[in-house]
Order: sequence, then structure tokens, then C-alpha cells
Amino acid sequence: MKDLLKEIEDCRQNFSQSLEKIRDKASLEEIRALFLGRKRGKVTALFDQIKNLPPEDRPLIGQKLNDLKKEIIAALQKKEIELSEIKEAPEEKIDLTLPGKKRYLGSPHPIMLFLEEIERIFLEMGFVVEQGPEIETDYYNFEALNFPPYHPARDSWDTLYIKDDLLLRTHTSPVQIRVMEKQRPPIRIIVPGRVFRREAIDPTHLPMFYQVEGLVVDEGVTFAHLKGTLEYFLRALFGEKTKVRFRPSFFPFTEPSAEVDIECTVCRGQNPSCPVCGGSGWKEVLGAGMVDPQVLKNVNIDPERYSGWAFGLGIERTAMLLYGINDMRLFYENDLRFLTQFRRK
Ligand code: DAH
Repeated sequence: MKDLLKEIEDCRQNFSQSLEKIRDKASLEEIRALFLGRKRGKVTALFDQIKNLPPEDRPLIGQKLNDLKKEIIAALQKKEIELSEIKEAPEEKIDLTLPGKKRYLGSPHPIMLFLEEIERIFLEMGFVVEQGPEIETDYYNFEALNFPPYHPARDSWDTLYIKDDLLLRTHTSPVQIRVMEKQRPPIRIIVPGRVFRREAIDPTHLPMFYQVEGLVVDEGVTFAHLKGTLEYFLRALFGEKTKVRFRPSFFPFTEPSAEVDIECTVCRGQNPSCPVCGGSGWKEVLGAGMVDPQVLKNVNIDPERYSGWAFGLGIERTAMLLYGINDMRLFYENDLRFLTQFRRK
């Protein structure tokens, strides 16, 4: 009998715990059935046990169970009233005319997109992409490229020195040397990368910018290959009809050397006071030339057998021309109004 009394008590507690959690009428009906249901109700099951008790215990248990049943019925009724008093929340209405929440999707930096574009053109021509360190030694940045110590040509490539012999590379040209040291011709590479100079910042100068270097070394390589490849590249980038011109120039690591201009993309030579080309009708985009035999000797490639050509292109400057941007600083000010105009196509 003791067991049964305990069961009655457990059932009471169990019921009041379940009742507390009820928030709506449907669950209220569920616990009504759970406790009072005719077949499987917990209280009904307890009533069923009375017949197994000795007759003298039956009245007490019967009494207790009746009390419990009444309590439960009363509590369910009370809860039902409470629930009907809670005003049902007005049904949520969705206004389909409201503008949706915009999620900002990030995208690669315009310079990276532009680099991808350049890489694509050269990869199609069978070039391979190489990389080199941004911190260089004097040897790779200057000496091996035929800039002797104290040579005046070094002035145009002044940089930030870490130690006497260690510096932030001023161009991607040292990677030519690094690649030629470990690889024999044929070589056909491009090298995109960050370079550094001692520059005062203005709309066309930054102390950090990107270049793409190119190098081809093989037997029988001539200036005609250089000209044809660069013309093809510049027209793939700027449009088939873009005029390209080569001007004689000087770089210590090429001989002969040239600077390559394209027709001004803004005025096409039609505006004598064009703010982009100053009325000349041309914009310089890269430096190039035949690899100086001394440079080949420095990496033990026989200049009698092999010849090569190389070029270096300033990425920001070229992107400015292509997209009509008039201030290089915009690339690095992280203004989203500027950056979000460039997306992967
Ligand atoms: N390194 C040169 C610069 O930073 C650009 C350059 C010119 C690279 C001629 C070359 C080249 O490979 O052949 O101004």
C-alpha cells in the first residue's frame, strides 16, 4: 500500500510539473489525456490497481485517488481559463513590398582582379607564374642585374633598407635572377608582386605598388618576339585597335632597352590639353628590353647560345589607364564606394 501512496504522490508532482510547461490548448488536451484518459491515463491506471489491494486498504487509497483526480480536473480547468485569457498574438504579417536585407558580399581587391586578368593572358601564351621574396639582398635587387655599387642608375630605384645588404625590393626584376639561377632555358615566366620605393605619396606615386615582370630566355629569341608578345598582350588588355609604340630607353639589365607606350585611352590623341596624357596622346605602361649579356653571364647562362627579353609593368598605373582612375591612392584607401565598383566578371 505504501508503494501505491508514493505512486499517487509522484503522479501529483508529475502532473503539476507538466502543467507548468503548458502554453497552449493543444498541449493542455494532451496532458488531460495523459493523466485522465480512459485507457492509458496515469490516474486511471492507479484506480485500476485498487482491486489488487486487501479490502481494508481500498477506502483510503480510493479517497486519495479521488482527491487527486479532482485536483487535476480543477487545475486543468483553471489553466484552460488562463489560456483563453491570453490574447492570441496577432498573426505576423509579411510585407512583401519591403526591400530585403542586403548582405554585403566581399570580393577580391581590384588590383588582384587585374592581376588575374594579366596572368590569364600570359598563361594562354604558355608563360608560368613565379614569385620571389619582398625582402631582397643588394645582390639580387641590384648587382646581379648589372647595377654596380654607386652606379647612378641606383638613384631611380631608391628604397627602404633593412640593413646595408638587405632591402625592400624596388622591382620584381630580381626574380629573373632567382629563376635563372635554378632553371635552365627555355624560360618563359611572369612574376607578379609587391615592390617598394622611397617615394613621396601623390596621385601617381606610392611607396608600395605592384609590378608584373616578364622574362623569356631561349635559343634564337629576338626583339621581334618581345615586340610581338607585348603588342599582343597590350591589345588583349586594352582592345584590339590600341596603338602601341616603343621608345628607346635605358635599363642596366637590358640592352637595347625600350619604354612602351599605349595610345591615351582617354583622348586617343584628340585633346591637346588632356589631363591624363598631357596632350601627347601616349601613356607609358612598361619598360622592356633584351636581357643584357652580362646578366646572363651572372647566372651562368651562355649569352653566345641563349638570348632573352624581359619587361616590367606597373600594375596600378596600367589599371588606372584601363579603368579611367585619376588617383592611385584610391586603391589603398579602402573606401568601399570605390572598391565595390570592381567585381569578378
Ligand atoms: N624593373 C624596371 C622598373 O622597375 C622595369 C623593367 C624594365 C623591367 C625593363 C624589365 C625590363 O624586366 O626589361 O622600372
